[in-house]
Amino acid sequence: MKRKIGEVKNEKAIIVRELIKNFESIERGKGLTGKIKSLYNPKKKKVEALRGISFSIDKGELVGFIGPNGAGKTTTLKVLSGLLYPTSGFTQVLGYNPWERKNSYLKKIATVMGQKNQLWWDLPAIDTLELNQAIYELPQNTYKENLNELTELLEVKDLLNTQVRKLSLGQRMKFELIAALIHRPQVLFLDEPTIGLDVVAQQKVRDFIQDYNKKFNATIMLTSHNMDDLIDLAKRVIVIDKGEIIFDGKLSDLVSGFAKEKTIKLYFSKDIDVKSLENIGKVKKFSFPQATITVPRESVAFAAAELLQNFPIADLTIEEENIESIIRRVFRGEKK
Ligand SMILES: Nc1ncnc2c1ncn2[C@@H]1O[C@H](COP(=O)(O)OP(=O)(O)O)[C@@H](O)[C@H]1O
Ligand SMILES: [Mg+2]
Repeated sequence: MKRKIGEVKNEKAIIVRELIKNFESIERGKGLTGKIKSLYNPKKKKVEALRGISFSIDKGELVGFIGPNGAGKTTTLKVLSGLLYPTSGFTQVLGYNPWERKNSYLKKIATVMGQKNQLWWDLPAIDTLELNQAIYELPQNTYKENLNELTELLEVKDLLNTQVRKLSLGQRMKFELIAALIHRPQVLFLDEPTIGLDVVAQQKVRDFIQDYNKKFNATIMLTSHNMDDLIDLAKRVIVIDKGEIIFDGKLSDLVSGFAKEKTIKLYFSKDIDVKSLENIGKVKKFSFPQATITVPRESVAFAAAELLQNFPIADLTIEEENIESIIRRVFRGEKK
């Protein structure tokens, strides 16, 4: 089909429809008799890891994929990378069916799992990178160009010949990223890429992910328990809980949707009785001349009016519940 000039079309990089993934695991009996029984008469238990999830992601989007432990994040990324076969549903990435694991597909994607590693421990990183050059059949000049660019972005050029086991965790993670991206994939599945890194290395990796996204218009799905990763990187977040998607939209809308309270910060011009303040909201902090109270979102205007009328107020500001405490509640699996 020909496209009309001027027609804007968002190209979908990832399409997922009604994706279901069940695992079967054998239930271990309790106690010795139970254990022996389960050996001869194994009871199978079905784990419904993904219960029919649907979403799509445009080319060039960077999406945070979050939720509590066991929600189904890694399972989703594994299905999309072609590492796991789905029970049912439709998945398409760059026009490919991931689990066919076509060579031409694998050359366009990268999967980085924070807790897994592909670097050869006893060899310098350059050896793993050269191996990947061969696997991905990269011409020498493309390889050199990509290597240069990646090592420069992550500032590890001078460590290419150091034995991997002698690198710090942060340096290793950077080389893991380089090894995963040396073939310049268009779609990245990043599973907890900053886990275990110190704050400085985290920031470097974050900046790098952002640069890579912008520079190559790459599509990125990122899972993380790190609030800063999400706040810095993801405009859109998909929240998954118990195998179901419970939110898909702007991070800012997630915050306002989940926020139950607003915070009022006060400065008093004269000392007050803290008891009378407790009639207006929950007092979080009081130390003259400052106080912080929280009130339900819907009654914030009323509370502010009461305060201004009945207290010696020098200054009053109203703030949203902070984004960190909201995301923390999302991670705990709390509903709105
Ligand atoms: N290979 C497996 N066999 C059985 N159950 C599994 C397997 N992999 C994951 N699960 C289960 O599927 C659910 C989702 O797991 P996962 O996708 O790893 O969650 P997340 O990455 O969000 O923490 C969990 O209940 C987990 O125990
Ligand atoms: Mg996981």
